[in-house]
Amino acid sequence: MLKVMSEAECLNDPALDDYETLRFEERLAKDFNKEAAIFFLTSSMSNLAAVLLHTRPGSEVILASSAHTVERECASMARIAGVQTRQIFTESGLFTPQQGKLSNGTYRGQVWDLNDLRQIKKIAEENKVAVHIDGARIYNALETYGLQPKDISDCYDTMTMCFTKGLCCPVGGAILGTREHIKKLKSIRKSLGGGIMHTSILSTGI
Ligand SMILES: Cc1ncc(COP(=O)(O)O)c(C=O)c1O
Repeated sequence: MLKVMSEAECLNDPALDDYETLRFEERLAKDFNKEAAIFFLTSSMSNLAAVLLHTRPGSEVILASSAHTVERECASMARIAGVQTRQIFTESGLFTPQQGKLSNGTYRGQVWDLNDLRQIKKIAEENKVAVHIDGARIYNALETYGLQPKDISDCYDTMTMCFTKGLCCPVGGAILGTREHIKKLKSIRKSLGGGIMHTSILSTGI
């Protein structure tokens, strides 16, 4: 891994993404059967970027009270995106389609029921609400379900994933979505200070 990373081709241009990273994003989107993907340094940053993408200041985000975004991301949703959370209190950290519409991929080792996720997406669609999955540990969930990444593409509009968790990579995460989402996320990522140069050094290691 270190050898490939040390030989990565870097563009030295702050306005352009490295080719290796673009190829990596394309491969990822194809694996998950989504139109496009965008590389992020951390899942915390990509979760916040997704909130900025789907909301406006004053919007409400429906999620589990134990979501990583609530417990461990230093209130970034409130501080930076200016949104209010509507938290669903559940002992397990999972909630049913009847209880809400925005969700996490896994919670402390527990995996969402796929039918619940599909139904949450359907209810959200009917109410014109976007579904973002914090799928930091999505590869673990897929392993549990015995599913391929593309099998869950209909469960969400956008999804965060993290390469430092189940895949044990040194750094990195991503968001998947439509081309339109990813176009907007490029400028959101830049505004959060996440538009760094030389990402091919990182993306080739994943
Ligand atoms: C569900 C979930 N979301 C987000 C994160 C944040 O990931 P990062 O450390 O890349 O910001 C984690 C980290 O443990 C996580 O478990």
